[in-house]
Amino acid sequence: MKVLVIGAGGREHALVWKLQQSPKVEKVFCAPGNGGIAQIAQCVDIKDTDVEGLLEFAVNEKIDLAIVGPEAPLVAGVVDKFREKGLRAFGPSQRAAEIEGSKALAKDIMEKYQIPTAKAATFTDVEKALNYVDELGVPCVVKADGLAAGKGVVVAEDVETAKKAVREMMEDKAFGSAGDKVVIEEFLRGEEVSILAFTDGKTVVPMVSSQDHKRAFDGDQGPNTGGMGAYSPAPIYTEQIEQIVMEQVLKPTIQGLAKEGRDYTGVIYAGLMITEEGPKVLEFNARFGDPETQPVLMRLETDLVEIIEAIEQEKLDEIEIKWSKEAAVCVVVASGGYPGSYEKGKLITGLDQVDENEAIVFHAGTKAVEGKIYTNGGRVLGITAKGDTVAEAVKSAYKAIDVIKFEKMQYRKDIAHRAID
Ligand code: AMP
Ligand code: GLY
Repeated sequence: MKVLVIGAGGREHALVWKLQQSPKVEKVFCAPGNGGIAQIAQCVDIKDTDVEGLLEFAVNEKIDLAIVGPEAPLVAGVVDKFREKGLRAFGPSQRAAEIEGSKALAKDIMEKYQIPTAKAATFTDVEKALNYVDELGVPCVVKADGLAAGKGVVVAEDVETAKKAVREMMEDKAFGSAGDKVVIEEFLRGEEVSILAFTDGKTVVPMVSSQDHKRAFDGDQGPNTGGMGAYSPAPIYTEQIEQIVMEQVLKPTIQGLAKEGRDYTGVIYAGLMITEEGPKVLEFNARFGDPETQPVLMRLETDLVEIIEAIEQEKLDEIEIKWSKEAAVCVVVASGGYPGSYEKGKLITGLDQVDENEAIVFHAGTKAVEGKIYTNGGRVLGITAKGDTVAEAVKSAYKAIDVIKFEKMQYRKDIAHRAID
């Protein structure tokens, strides 16, 4: 079959890499893709949010299956549009993807179906929001309702910061209409875990656990980023917690969404805080996580197309999904200055010296020009390796990074420290 992957990041490179191993796949296209994806698939220059452009391409190329990476096209309804034209697309519908597209909706659903999460309230009125900050106290967390490319969440230690965030989102429109509503919630303490799960709307099958590193610098310091690295499994995610998450989070969420007329199929991602009172949901995403997907897919032994087809046929309960016992780690290499301003167009060297048996270099913000690879974004590469333990996987990933060079490259030296310490 001919497959189209939509997106341009490390997650999409990992998806393309995994799909290329499927005996069912003849050809993979990626829109728009990146410099690394171009080495193993055919990139097409269509933006991931250009739904009409993607549709036209898919019809003309007779694409058998489209797989959507990022949230923006899902929330824009790309899956619905493909299906209207009789094309197969993997991912939730627009209504189902709203679980990520609106934090207020996600909170409403969690409240209605008693899914454990932080205490919160939603506001469309600035004064009421500011009053709630006083009432709730600090630390608290202020979240823009809509999509804000991972930047719409402010963890505020003091009232001033919280109120400033409310004003910036609601009055100054820092995230456009995404800030028309804000969710203000109680601050939760604990360790974070990402649980990605496959679902056909009836059955939910969690993937292996993972944890990402959101802060830019070592020791979890500095600003939040899209993710500076991830590892799998997360040792804090015990079998007992897994069972609680299945019964109290994943199943009731999918069932609740169905009751709301938001039948969900595809991958659902629960961002969890493992608190002293048990796991609580921080957010839902309607897709694979980035960079969690890189280590998680590296551990997936089953053919991804087989899983997607089982989901399409509502037969997810009939297949066995196998995972490698090995651990996997992804270390993100970013452009100097990220997540603030950074330069692009730096030549990357040493990529051909990485032993493919040791580590796989998934590209994110890169561009190929005349056979050479240049930086083209904030997060540039995700060096991903397996090992018998997390510590061994970490060692292999950093060994590979040692040979890769570009001007002002920046990466964390402590990825997976919590799993190793
Ligand atoms: P979100 O996009 O909602 O996952 O928020 C981004 C990051 O903000 C999370 O990964 C957490 O590190 C942090 N965060 C969000 N909500 C809370 C909360 N209620 N308590 C503590 N930290 C939070
Ligand atoms: N790694 C966080 C996300 O994919 O949203």
